[in-house]
Amino acid sequence: MSQNQARTSAGSVHVVDHPLVQHKLTQMRMKERTTRGFRDLVREVSLLLAYEITRDMPVTYRRIETPLQEMDAPVIEGKKVVLVAVMRAGMGLLDGMLDIVPSARVGHIGLYRDHETLEAIEYFCKLPENLADREVLILDPMLATGHTAVAATDMVRKRSPRSIKFACILAAPEGLSEFHTHHPGVPVYTCAVDERLNDKGYILPGLGDAGDRIFGTK
Ligand code: URA
Repeated sequence: MSQNQARTSAGSVHVVDHPLVQHKLTQMRMKERTTRGFRDLVREVSLLLAYEITRDMPVTYRRIETPLQEMDAPVIEGKKVVLVAVMRAGMGLLDGMLDIVPSARVGHIGLYRDHETLEAIEYFCKLPENLADREVLILDPMLATGHTAVAATDMVRKRSPRSIKFACILAAPEGLSEFHTHHPGVPVYTCAVDERLNDKGYILPGLGDAGDRIFGTK
């Protein structure tokens, strides 16, 4: 699967430009897409994102027996990955990711956006214990202003995991810049970098409110 890798002034951004991902993203952007259709697409896209994000996972070799002979076969090294969903929209990315990494641990972070300041306010945090040897993937479909992404990553970083990656479906240039100002060492994986934010902090052209479209709340 091909992808574009770019470095912004402060950090790395991986745009997963596989045609299947781009086709599904276009389907998601269309305003006539039903809740059911949107949710299915989020699941499919997150599965493909997981495939890219886990590309550099370290492997080790284990002696196994096939029905015909012994061999040293690759297995993923280290402790289980931790998926951290930023509620509520990030929960939509969980199912697809778990299809690819079914034994991952799962954490939840609750942050909401103050509609006036657009700042992220914490209301929930439940993460697996002892992240020291684990790779954490933070999931939130829209990297818009970057405030939520920065706050969620702050909360995870306090637990000192081995590494952190941030996965979204769409990113705005303003959000990427804000995110990498605070977390330059955390790579972002996204399906596209859109044009800009509007004055309400929504991504343009975007796909609307991801949480509302996943859960059918509007
Ligand atoms: N959150 C969303 O759901 N959509 C946006 O465009 C920005 C933030």
